[in-house]
Amino acid sequence: MRVMLPKTVEDFGRAFAMVEPEGLEGYVDGGSGREVTVRRNVEAWDAIEVRPRVLRGASAPDLSTTVLGVAEPHPVMVAPVGFQQYVHTDGGVEAARGAVAAGARYVHSTFGAASFTELEAVEGLRWWFQLYAFTDDGLNRALIERAAEAGAEAVVFTVDLAVLAHRERDAHSGFVLRGNREVPCVADVGYADARLAPVWASLDHDISFAHLDRLVADSPVPVLVKGVLRADDAVECVGHGAAGVVVSNHGGRQLDTAVPTSIALPEVVDAVGGRAEVIVDSGVRSGLDVAKGLALGASAVMVGRPVLWGLGVGGSAGVERVLQLLVDGLTNAMSLSGARTVGELDRSLLSRP
Ligand code: FNR
Repeated sequence: MRVMLPKTVEDFGRAFAMVEPEGLEGYVDGGSGREVTVRRNVEAWDAIEVRPRVLRGASAPDLSTTVLGVAEPHPVMVAPVGFQQYVHTDGGVEAARGAVAAGARYVHSTFGAASFTELEAVEGLRWWFQLYAFTDDGLNRALIERAAEAGAEAVVFTVDLAVLAHRERDAHSGFVLRGNREVPCVADVGYADARLAPVWASLDHDISFAHLDRLVADSPVPVLVKGVLRADDAVECVGHGAAGVVVSNHGGRQLDTAVPTSIALPEVVDAVGGRAEVIVDSGVRSGLDVAKGLALGASAVMVGRPVLWGLGVGGSAGVERVLQLLVDGLTNAMSLSGARTVGELDRSLLSRP
């Protein structure tokens, strides 16, 4: 049987909304408060206009790049998302397989739906581990050590979820994450009670730069900080040993009316000044958005919800297709902007209204 997949990233979003229960769709697509940032993230990418170069012979651009000193075939990465099992029964592994098929680096959430052992078995996987800090520092250490042993090449420390924001759609739909399932990565390191409710309850709500210092000291692999929206914070993270920052507002799921990431990105890039990687996510829906992120100075771009749409609609094949649509869109945007390499995407190509 020939499996039909949607033809555009937006079609994947619409198909996802049609096939998933309303509560789950709201959990994935929704955000915090009145969802101002969810909307503004997307609008702010659209609002950046392009000033294309001509006569540059850019019909077949080279998308390859380097992130943390490692060669990447292209700069599109899978953002960490928890609880993929709600979207697909084998969600974590299928998402990882889809990333491999599309040549994309995969970031696995602390709450991702696959254990370290399962990820180890995914052939060709190139991945990073995303950590939420727990009050038990022994658990934090066990997670990063096991992740590195299982092949994670970096740790992404997410810092914009000190507490969970109010999510009005979930309040209306009654959607709750079920507390009795085990968190696979936490179970994998042999933690006493790996069920979601107790694990969630042991998240550390008072994270600070001291946590980053400990993490940098303990981690066998480089540490990036995700959820940075200000130049001063970015500089401080780098000063505390971060190998990179991810400019992110959690896809508009945490502080509502937080600044769109395409607006925060340039000041962070300028402040970091090439001393560390700057990656961006939130609201990226096309290869053209990816090109704009790179032109503003990001070295890679992460995508969250579109990958979940692909996962829900078509498993690993859907994930692969969504990522391929973004990569193809980036290729096309580079050709039409006159950029032959990722390095030729620069701010002179952009204007703001
Ligand atoms: C997320 N995100 C997220 N981030 C993180 O660091 N750890 C996590 O476990 C999760 N979980 C999660 C679940 C769901 C359902 C979504 C939609 C998002 C945030 C994610 O990494 C990323 O920052 C945003 O999704 C980027 O915005 P877009 O691409 O979804 O608009």
